Amino acid sequence: MAYKTREWRNSMRVTVDYNYMMSTTLGDKGLKDSQLKAIKGRAEEAFNYVKANRGRDDLYMGWTELPYNQDAIVADILATAKQIRKKFKYFVVLGIGGSALGPIMAFNALCHLHYNELPPSKRKGPKFYVEDNVDPVRMAALLDVIEPEKTCFNVISKSGATSETMTQYLIISDILKNKGVDVAENMIFTTDAARGNLLKIDQTFGGRIKKYVLPDGVGGRFSELCPVGLLPAAVLGIDIKGMLAGAAYMDGLCSRPSVSKNPALACAALQYITMQEGKNINVLMPYSDNLKLMADWYCQLWAESLGKAVDYDGNVVNAGTTPVKSLGVTDQHSQVQLYIEGPFDKVITFISVDEYATPMPIPHGCEDIPDVGFLGGHTMQELIQAENKATAYALAMAGRMNYTIHMPAVNAFTLGQLMYLLELQTAYTGAMLNINTFNQPGVENGKKATFALLGKNGYEDKKREIDSAPASEDKYIV
Ligand code: PA5
Repeated sequence: MAYKTREWRNSMRVTVDYNYMMSTTLGDKGLKDSQLKAIKGRAEEAFNYVKANRGRDDLYMGWTELPYNQDAIVADILATAKQIRKKFKYFVVLGIGGSALGPIMAFNALCHLHYNELPPSKRKGPKFYVEDNVDPVRMAALLDVIEPEKTCFNVISKSGATSETMTQYLIISDILKNKGVDVAENMIFTTDAARGNLLKIDQTFGGRIKKYVLPDGVGGRFSELCPVGLLPAAVLGIDIKGMLAGAAYMDGLCSRPSVSKNPALACAALQYITMQEGKNINVLMPYSDNLKLMADWYCQLWAESLGKAVDYDGNVVNAGTTPVKSLGVTDQHSQVQLYIEGPFDKVITFISVDEYATPMPIPHGCEDIPDVGFLGGHTMQELIQAENKATAYALAMAGRMNYTIHMPAVNAFTLGQLMYLLELQTAYTGAMLNINTFNQPGVENGKKATFALLGKNGYEDKKREIDSAPASEDKYIV
């Protein structure tokens, strides 16, 4: 295991460069050192809050300990994954939100970009799908490409009451039953240890369904490093021990209460200060197709954690900034014009990669056409890195704040670091804002409204409230 030597771990260290946030480069559009000094006390308080409450289930801070307390679970997951790889042709995750965005992000990051199209001999595991919607067309499309009897379905839901996930479960279990398949043989549940409907369903199968625990103190969006993410990743042959080792390494890098020594605290401080200045758009722009879905995962982490109406003192704060996902270089030809010349309302976070899995040389040719000929002899890696640097520089020259998270390479160890960095950054920012980072009352209200609209018992009053809401008036429909 390469991550076991200190030299290798240090060579894979993820770092944050925030020069292009500062007035030294951006002049009066940048932050002054005095602003970072002024935030010192608040940043320290946030650091101490997170440190003091590490691992507390009642505060949903169990995620901080996931890199350290899962040896037995990891061993079990690796053994199960081996069996799944032998037995099944397909592996399908049924889940939504925090139960889906992590597994699909890790798949995108660490597997071949056309994994499902590879022949079985070139894949480490079964074909892989994550169904995180209830679009009927998408479900029908999935059923067109899998053989349900040869598929392992991993139902991931903490509550077992999420309409989307449970709808998928009902459809799939009905199909399996109609085919005469023992549902318990083709299902794995990842759910709460003691509560929830998946446990009740398992009882109807005599407790035979293989189950993994989504720990009490781990909310959906902080769950990628628990069985929610570890089982699908292990099935795909991803080095889950490496991922956890990377998270632990980043935890170590973030062990000091100082913005200049703790990368997650630095990012949180930058986000917090700029938020107070009215920069309410937070763009994440990885320059890597493997990290494209990292931006999706991050958007949920940031939005659901920080978008809160009230703070801990009961003040209405309507906190949060809007996360935007972007992809380099693709979105240079779509959004970057706005970032460079539009309103000064954004902070752009780049994720740069020092060494891609392959450099892909660009052959010589078209020497008579200078616009094309100059590319020959370089590599695609050089090109994407040059465009990344050029975009960050152009933004800075236009007075636009941006900073870069540098990844030496994309692998399980660096991905673990990146996830933990972004989780800690979110927790610190929430603590600076004095809000509850780990609940999601807005999402829960939406879930209740869905129950009411579909006639679930006990939600009759909610249904009447929705039917009589002003939004049902015809006069505003054109
Ligand atoms: O981050 C969260 O907590 C949410 O996105 C949940 O993961 C999502 O709502 C699914 O909930 P559950 O796991 O109960 O099905």
